[in-house]
Amino acid sequence: MNLNDLVRENIKKLKPYSSARGKFTKGILMDANENPFSSVVENISANLNRYPDPNQIELRKVIGKYLGMEYQKIFVGVGSDEIIDLLIRIFCKPGIDEALIFEPTYGMYKVACDINDIKINSVLLNDDYQIDLSAVSREIINRSKIIFLCSPNNPTGNTLSAQSILSICENSNGIVVLDEAYIDFCDDQSLIKKNESIPNLVIIRTFSKAWGLAGVRCGYCIADRELIDWLLKIKAPYNINKLTEQTIINSIKNADQKDENVKRILSEREFLIAELKSLKEVQKVFPTDSNFILFRINNAFSIKNKLADKGIIIRDRSNQPLLENCLRVSVGTREENKLFITELKKVI
Ligand SMILES: Cc1ncc(COP(=O)(O)O)c(C=O)c1O
Repeated sequence: MNLNDLVRENIKKLKPYSSARGKFTKGILMDANENPFSSVVENISANLNRYPDPNQIELRKVIGKYLGMEYQKIFVGVGSDEIIDLLIRIFCKPGIDEALIFEPTYGMYKVACDINDIKINSVLLNDDYQIDLSAVSREIINRSKIIFLCSPNNPTGNTLSAQSILSICENSNGIVVLDEAYIDFCDDQSLIKKNESIPNLVIIRTFSKAWGLAGVRCGYCIADRELIDWLLKIKAPYNINKLTEQTIINSIKNADQKDENVKRILSEREFLIAELKSLKEVQKVFPTDSNFILFRINNAFSIKNKLADKGIIIRDRSNQPLLENCLRVSVGTREENKLFITELKKVI
């Protein structure tokens, strides 16, 4: 038997997602937009001999109470990445349907579409990394079963204008997925309140960033109840395990700690921005509403490698459209940020 002959063609062609933690697990890790401060988790006492609640009722109620919305509008997944995949599987027919992304953006939308054999159409953001509605043809919007929007956008860091997001929702006959993974770093910009009145809008959130729980793998989405019921129908029966469930419930009890950490990250972000701007070799520091900063510098690839040799890990995003010579650094602790700047000065 030749295993290769049995594998689907789209999987053979797949360029898999390149995870930051796939390469580096040690050093000053400023590459994956994680929170440098860990979340507070009290002791966990789950009956691990029993399966978890497949409908995640308690967990959804706790998240719902925290957000001030009914739990029936919330679905919980193994990271936002699981939710992205499930949404594609609910709505898109492999080999037939199409999706739309605005690049540069988070790489998983394309990878998840490729795995599911969904053709992806890509429209470039404008020079300010905003959606240029005049550059998106009506035909492409009509053909797209799912449109992925990321605000604040990774890796550019900026929020997309609410007006353009709402206009896309209005003009699309499909599902608009708005990824708010970094929204805690610019709370007032969330479209969560609009969700009630827009039936085709799905907002995705994660505990991996502001909550400091990237290692737990938990994300959720907010959508129309009918859409949430479809997600519940197709997910693996026990996708959220009891340890995750209890960790998230405990962390939400300590939401003050999350807010405190967000404040610290915002203040560290200002420190890093000022330091980067003071370097004449840095051509541009892009505005950010996130816990990371994109900056442009000559010889970005070589600078990233030299920093890695010193144990400081950041990400080169230069291979994405519009991001020539752009590096992305996640905000760290003051100590990490200082070390990064000191070593950056040396390698440039
Ligand atoms: C925009 C965006 N969405 C989603 C994720 C992944 O979230 P999760 O850890 O919940 O799968 C990331 C991770 O970097 C991200 O940048």
